[in-house]
Amino acid sequence: MKQWIDKLRQERTLRPEEFRQLLTGCDADSLRIINEQAREVSLRHFGNRIYIRGLIEISNCCRNNCYYCGIRKGNPHVARYRLSPESILDCCKQGYALGFRTFVLQGGEDPALTDDRIETIVAAIRRHYPDCAITLSLGEKSREAYERFFHAGANRYLLRHETYDATHYSQLHPAGMSGKQRLQCLQNLKETGYQTGTGIMVGSPGQTVEHLIQDILFIEKLRPEMIGIGPFLPHQDTPFARYSSGTLEQTLLLLSIFRLMYPSALIPSTTALATLTPDGRERGILAGANVVMPNLSPQEERKKYTLYNNKASLGAESAEGIRILQQQLHNIGYEISFSRGDFKTVDS
Ligand code: 5AD
Repeated sequence: MKQWIDKLRQERTLRPEEFRQLLTGCDADSLRIINEQAREVSLRHFGNRIYIRGLIEISNCCRNNCYYCGIRKGNPHVARYRLSPESILDCCKQGYALGFRTFVLQGGEDPALTDDRIETIVAAIRRHYPDCAITLSLGEKSREAYERFFHAGANRYLLRHETYDATHYSQLHPAGMSGKQRLQCLQNLKETGYQTGTGIMVGSPGQTVEHLIQDILFIEKLRPEMIGIGPFLPHQDTPFARYSSGTLEQTLLLLSIFRLMYPSALIPSTTALATLTPDGRERGILAGANVVMPNLSPQEERKKYTLYNNKASLGAESAEGIRILQQQLHNIGYEISFSRGDFKTVDS
């Protein structure tokens, strides 16, 4: 296994067969080694600094019915909400005072959040906070919409491809949603000029090692600036309620693989990972992640934005808990970077 880890670090890629061996044969010892290697690469490129992003969950209304997601349209138990532009700006204000210089607007594909409304909100944030980065995570939109948001001042866009394999994609999503469409959106985002993020859920129902290899090769081709990797976690009101979660080990392995492949990528240690296990956030950082995204949404709405069960929302997961986060990072030898944390290419 060590040979593939060394090769991955040196050449930043492997052959499919070698990835397969790494993904199937990585025991606890090898996992420790690849996590250490990835951590070293991350330290070399970013120092012991972790970027923070303030996450604002602007709407839990969604027209889609993804089988894994708690806020799917078909879940009648969700108390639906949509933040007003004033409320969103208020979140930004609080976040700015806490030191955040990136705001991430995330939400379901809410038909009431028209392109016009989103454009207006982005423009307002851009006006009030000229020194901040604006990241959107609002799903599939038309190319024109992506362009309008970009020209209104958005800088980054997160859109996980979830799985590259078309058949697996159709096992996770109802008819009417297509993997091809998702990939086209990612292409459009890149061409529009966004720092673009994509990624997968680890251990989603039906996922095989073959799928993971395809995901790795796709990400290698797309070269996204941001890579979001978190475990699948079941939600009780979805068709996938009875499936088991993705594992900590496989999530940490994939985080490290992506860090070794892509030293300068922005890779978050996700809320899903922190939900899976109490020290998940720290473990993600020690496996090569360099971003965390504390929650800046209004307190009353946080519980309503439940993509999976038991979502971590206390302490360091919340923007007000930034001191706790600081302490947790300090305990493992890291510090918060209060800069915007844009993607930079680093070649060495
Ligand atoms: N478990 C883990 N991650 C999930 N997401 C949605 N539902 C779940 C779940 N049950 C992830 C998807 C989506 C991102 C916003 O959250 O990958 O792209």
